[in-house]
Amino acid sequence: SKQIQVAIDGPASAGKSTVAKILAKKMGYIYCDTGAMYRVVTFHALENKIDLKNVEELMNALNHLDISFDYVEGVQHVYANGVDVTTDIRMPDVTNHVSEVAAIKEIRHELVNRQKAISASQSIVMDGRDIGTVVLPDADLKIFLVASVKERAERRYKENVSKGIMTSLEVLQKEIEDRDYYDSHRKESPLIQAKDAIKVDTTGLSIEEVVKVIENELKKVI
Ligand code: C5P
Repeated sequence: SKQIQVAIDGPASAGKSTVAKILAKKMGYIYCDTGAMYRVVTFHALENKIDLKNVEELMNALNHLDISFDYVEGVQHVYANGVDVTTDIRMPDVTNHVSEVAAIKEIRHELVNRQKAISASQSIVMDGRDIGTVVLPDADLKIFLVASVKERAERRYKENVSKGIMTSLEVLQKEIEDRDYYDSHRKESPLIQAKDAIKVDTTGLSIEEVVKVIENELKKVI
């Protein structure tokens, strides 16, 4: 059967990875969390005390950094040179520095190449900020997922509490707004809706409802 590509982009905490994972599982496609890749690079740089403004050093580290994924009982695990960094890459320190690293042209080129390679031979659901615009410009379906910042902060808050991360709702909302602003205003492939993407506003919708909307759109194109 034909190889299918689904691109899901949108601002922080819009529920992209949650619905992308469910959709991939239902369809039997692979799932690629590109945000996790930028997070691994950021975590690795912070761990190794690499100056985030030193592009040469960052690129040298990235060239020796293998990033891989696997699934244990439906839960995604992320590895940096074989070490499980699933929890580390969600820590506030990484979240607050990742946009700075993701704005670097050289880092983006390398990760985009890796993302294209991952999608080369299998049907895939990929989520991020530039999937429909840069990584998979010919995707069969492009979704731009949005939700009110208040609801996104509340979702992130609940997710954090379940992981034992304590940040107030107000601070989370500010962090989300700052990250969206930074991601949308950078020079190199900023977060924007692709012309041919379908915007889905998930405010007030359950995860199941969002998946249903995307599934219906997918049925129209496959
Ligand atoms: O999706 P997540 O919130 O984990 O992404 C973390 C950060 O990685 C984003 O805020 C953005 O700066 C960067 N990113 C990106 N391009 C992607 C995916 C993520 O620039 N395709």
